[in-house]
Amino acid sequence: MGYQNSFKVFLCLSVIFLFSMKIMVLEKYFEKINFTAFSIHTTKPIRKGAHYWFSQTNKHANKNITLPNCTLPPDLGPYNIQLNVPLDNEFKNERMSFGGHNKPENCIALQKIAIVIPFRNRESHLKIWLHNMHPFLQKQQADYGIYVIEQHGNLPFNRAKLLNIGYKEALKEYDYNCFIFSDVDIIPMDQRNLYRCSTNPKHMAHALDKFNFRLLYATLFGGVVAFTKEQFLKVNGFSNLFWGWGGEDDDLYKRVITAGMQIERMNNIISKTKAIPHKRDPGNEDNPKSTGFQHVATRNGEPLLEKAARRMYTDGLNSLNYTFIRVMKHRLYTKVLVDIGKPENIEQ
Ligand SMILES: *[C@@H]1O[C@H](CO)[C@@H](O)[C@H](O)[C@H]1NC(C)=O
Ligand SMILES: *[C@@H]1O[C@H](CO)[C@@H](O)[C@H](O)[C@H]1NC(C)=O
Ligand SMILES: *[C@@H]1O[C@H](CO)[C@@H](O)[C@H](O)[C@H]1NC(C)=O
Ligand SMILES: *[C@@H]1O[C@H](CO)[C@@H](O)[C@H](O)[C@H]1NC(C)=O
Repeated sequence: MGYQNSFKVFLCLSVIFLFSMKIMVLEKYFEKINFTAFSIHTTKPIRKGAHYWFSQTNKHANKNITLPNCTLPPDLGPYNIQLNVPLDNEFKNERMSFGGHNKPENCIALQKIAIVIPFRNRESHLKIWLHNMHPFLQKQQADYGIYVIEQHGNLPFNRAKLLNIGYKEALKEYDYNCFIFSDVDIIPMDQRNLYRCSTNPKHMAHALDKFNFRLLYATLFGGVVAFTKEQFLKVNGFSNLFWGWGGEDDDLYKRVITAGMQIERMNNIISKTKAIPHKRDPGNEDNPKSTGFQHVATRNGEPLLEKAARRMYTDGLNSLNYTFIRVMKHRLYTKVLVDIGKPENIEQ
């Protein structure tokens, strides 16, 4: 009798022990979850969007309390950018939920900001960017998500198309109303440089250190730009036709003007930005026939830039065609890998 009872107790304890082990293992597993592995082996990739991660991490999510609107902290100023970033920093920022989403805990941010980064083979820059930008954006009380859109394959890079894709993919996850399209190597040097949208599309990389903090030419609109959802729809996004380096930003400028909007820039002091030095990547050579800053890329003999205004309502978000490959939720960012096809003049 005594033997049977203690056996039952033993069984119970074993079950409890195994169960808690399982929870520990699962927790460990979810900490370093590898979404790549998921999406490769299932037909429907597991995709938990920003909404899910926000509700999991926001301690006020299920309570019936009204939070005040966010205000900017008074002590914003010059920002000390760190370029020497430990390579294993990806899991260090504990406040971060999966996918590089964050929002203020004690106030409501009015803008929901998707930061979209076109990407290929630039891991070291991405690490530096993330390491500096998460604290920067949190200081500005931003409700934001980081989307890194990676071009699959080795064909010429198409920055603008990747940014269009980032816009669409981000909106699948959360009702973002502000989009900041940023290169992976550009970091603001002052916290007063607000990563926010405005009443007009905003140019935020006009005072780069590598150009002595001067605007190179009046219509320059590259590096980092911010559009509300409405503004971006109004210009039908970027052109999808610029392969290789350059031209797409000038095309976007023409779209903005054609749509009756203007470019906004904050003053040069607070807009100082750092460009992390690097060599031009293979696969991102200049557009054909581009000379300096005068890009004259052509399609079927027609200069793209010259016809920017005429093309803008047929070439852009409404003609975007790509193949989604997979999404990977890293702690500090969401990476979306896509096949964007090939330039029309490249035969297989
Ligand atoms: C994630 O899984 C994929 C496919 O199984 C593998 O190739 C990759 O190395 C894994 N990444 C990590 C960080 O474990
Ligand atoms: C939440 O609070 C409001 C006003 O304080 C109240 O009217 C409402 O019934 C509450 N909702 C729940 C689910 O408690
Ligand atoms: C928060 O901001 C919204 C939008 O500007 C405004 O309508 C609302 O009154 C504000 N709430 C408070 C408490 O200030
Ligand atoms: C674009 O669309 C066509 C069908 O209209 C499809 O065959 C092609 O694979 C698509 N290209 C990409 C990159 O998705």
